[in-house]
Amino acid sequence: MTPDEIIDVEIKLLLEGVYQVYGFDFREYSEASLRRRLIQWLSISGFGTLSLAQSPLLRDRGLFDTLLRGITVNVSDMFRDPSFFKAIREQVVPHLLTYPFIKIWHAGCSTGEEAYSMAILLHEVGLKGRFRIYATDINEEVIHKAQKGIYPLQEMQRFTRNYQHSGGTGSFSDYYTARYDHAILSPSLQENIVFAAHNLTVDTDFGEMNLILCRNVMIYFKQPLKERVLSLLDTSLMPGGFLCLGTKESLDHRNISGRYEAMMPRMQIYRKRYAKKLQQTV
Ligand SMILES: C[S@@+](CC[C@H](N)C(=O)[O-])C[C@H]1O[C@@H](n2cnc3c(N)ncnc32)[C@H](O)[C@@H]1O
Repeated sequence: MTPDEIIDVEIKLLLEGVYQVYGFDFREYSEASLRRRLIQWLSISGFGTLSLAQSPLLRDRGLFDTLLRGITVNVSDMFRDPSFFKAIREQVVPHLLTYPFIKIWHAGCSTGEEAYSMAILLHEVGLKGRFRIYATDINEEVIHKAQKGIYPLQEMQRFTRNYQHSGGTGSFSDYYTARYDHAILSPSLQENIVFAAHNLTVDTDFGEMNLILCRNVMIYFKQPLKERVLSLLDTSLMPGGFLCLGTKESLDHRNISGRYEAMMPRMQIYRKRYAKKLQQTV
C-alpha cells in the first residue's frame, strides 16, 4: 500500500470510530475536502498520524471538538449572494405576505449571518412579529457565536455593501451598535430567531416550515447523503413552501425534483407543489 492509501484507511477507521462514539456521521462527506481538512488538523494537533490520534480522539470529547471545528467549513456573510436575497425580497416575499405566520429553517446556519439577514429583510417588508426563524448547525461553537450576534466591526463595510445590493430599504447601520472593534446586532433581530444544534446526517426533520434555506452546506456531501438530506428538507417543508439551495446545488435529477417547481432556477429557489398538483406529476 502507498502512504496515501494508508491515510485513506486511517480516515475510514477514524470516521467509523467517531460515528460509533459521538454519533457524528462524516462517512459520506466528499473525500477530497474532508481529507484536506483532516490532514490540516493533524498538522497542528501534534499527533504524527491519524492512527496515533484516533485513540485520544475517541476518549477525549474536548479534543474531538477541535477536530469538529477543523472539519466543518463555517464561512458565511450577511446577505451572502446579494442577488439571492433580492430574489427572496421580490419573488418570494409577496407569497409569504399572504400567510398569517411563517416558519423558516436555516439548515447549516454557521455563525448566524444568514439568519440575521433574513430577519432584517422580513422586518423591512412588514413581517415583523409574524415569523419565527429556526437556525441550526452541527457545530455548537458556531451556534454560540450566532446567539451572541456580535461580529468584527471591520466586516460591516462588506455587510453594508451586500445589504444595499440585496435591495435593503433602510440604513444597515440602524441594525447594529459599534462597540470598540465589534458590532453588536440589534436585540430586536434576535427576538424571533431560535438557534439550536442539529445534525442533518443523523437528526430528524423540523416540522411544517414555509421556507427552508440550506445554502453552501451540501457541497461537502456525497450524492447519496445529498439525496437523504434533500428528503429530510422535503419532509420538513409545507406544500407551497420554498426551498433555497444556494447557487452551487440544484434539484436537477434528484429524487424529490418532481415535487417541486423551479421558481428561479438560476437562484436555485424551488416551490413545493400542492398535493393536487403533486398527484398530477406522478
Ligand atoms: C459554509 S457554511 C454555510 C453557512 C450559511 N448557510 C451560508 O451560506 O452562509 C456551512 C455550514 O454547514 C454546517 N454543516 C456541515 N455539516 C452539517 C450537518 N451534517 N448538519 C448541519 N450542519 C452542517 C457547517 O458546520 C457550517 O457551519
